[in-house]
Amino acid sequence: MSGSRIVALGHYQPPKVLSNDDLAVLVDTDDEWIRTRVGIRTRHIAEGESLVDLATEAAQKALAHSGRTAEDIDLVVVATCTAIERSPNTAAAVAARLGVRAPAAYDINTVCSGFSYALATADHAIRAGAARRALVIGAERMSDTLDWTDRSTCVIFGDGAGAAVVEAQEEGAEPGIGPVVWGSQPEKGDAVVITGWDPVISQQGQAVFRWATTQLAPLARQACERAGIDPSELRGFVPHQANLRIIDAIARKLGLADAVVARDVVDSGNTSAASIPLAFSKLVERGELSPGDPVLLFGFGGGLAYAGQVVRCP
Ligand SMILES: CC(C)(COP(=O)(O)OP(=O)(O)OC[C@H]1O[C@@H](n2cnc3c(N)ncnc32)[C@H](O)[C@@H]1OP(=O)(O)O)[C@@H](O)C(=O)NCCC(=O)NCCS
Repeated sequence: MSGSRIVALGHYQPPKVLSNDDLAVLVDTDDEWIRTRVGIRTRHIAEGESLVDLATEAAQKALAHSGRTAEDIDLVVVATCTAIERSPNTAAAVAARLGVRAPAAYDINTVCSGFSYALATADHAIRAGAARRALVIGAERMSDTLDWTDRSTCVIFGDGAGAAVVEAQEEGAEPGIGPVVWGSQPEKGDAVVITGWDPVISQQGQAVFRWATTQLAPLARQACERAGIDPSELRGFVPHQANLRIIDAIARKLGLADAVVARDVVDSGNTSAASIPLAFSKLVERGELSPGDPVLLFGFGGGLAYAGQVVRCP
């Protein structure tokens, strides 16, 4: 096998939308502060829908767009930091709902960089001959981790899911998923914390902001180098959707010439591991990216972990 490619994407967001004005009723905040500091206008919040529900909806859409069926899948990977159940894991629960027979099924938690980690492990499994066709899903119910009286966090996060169908390519084909650049700074792990049995998220916002705006652009550039592409040749850039100012700072440092930059944080807030497939799927659905376009995915956040790779748009 010469590698793998993304064949199709799908996404799902719960119908309930919370505006900044809605949040200003709950905590001492206002639309202007949230828009200027983070760039968010709205976020979707799940009510009565579980993490597995969100993940399954997104996976079903990706499968439908791919023209493949559950029977064609032999690997299911879910990136999430908000799974409540320890067993079965989210991937097994989604596989059962979809009717995927006998898949390898596992969850990955590297918080907000989770989707790029999950995509890399699926690509590696396919390259190693351990799988042929995978469902790679990022899904989060971040609202489960929120303290609705803490204005520093409750305005930032949202719920949702995105999914990709990934399959083997024949010998000689140009790889549709480039080499991953991944790593972490574990000594800074306490900058984003979600701990305990009834977990509440807290973060050192400024420390994460500084790390993201000063350390990540060279790593994102490395992912381009390993794929043999200059950032100026990218047609799309889909970073983790944490903060509009972080997205724009990294995009500026990369020197993108003609790339569509995902800014879904404006409508969806920070959906952690779901944010990259969610934003990517929307760009494809709206026709802002075309099949074969080189797109840089770059996840970062809790850990502090990061991962990114150049992929070809389905
Ligand atoms: C979280 C973040 C938006 C906060 O923005 P900031 O400019 O750093 O703001 P600060 O935390 O310094 O707070 C500045 C002031 O705004 C206040 N504030 C915090 N949240 C507020 C809100 N929702 N509304 C109004 N004021 C708020 C603070 O209390 C503080 O007030 P003070 O000066 O009186 O003490 C920003 O740091 C950020 O995006 N960091 C990265 C987060 C991230 O990417 N996390 C990764 C998880 S994947």
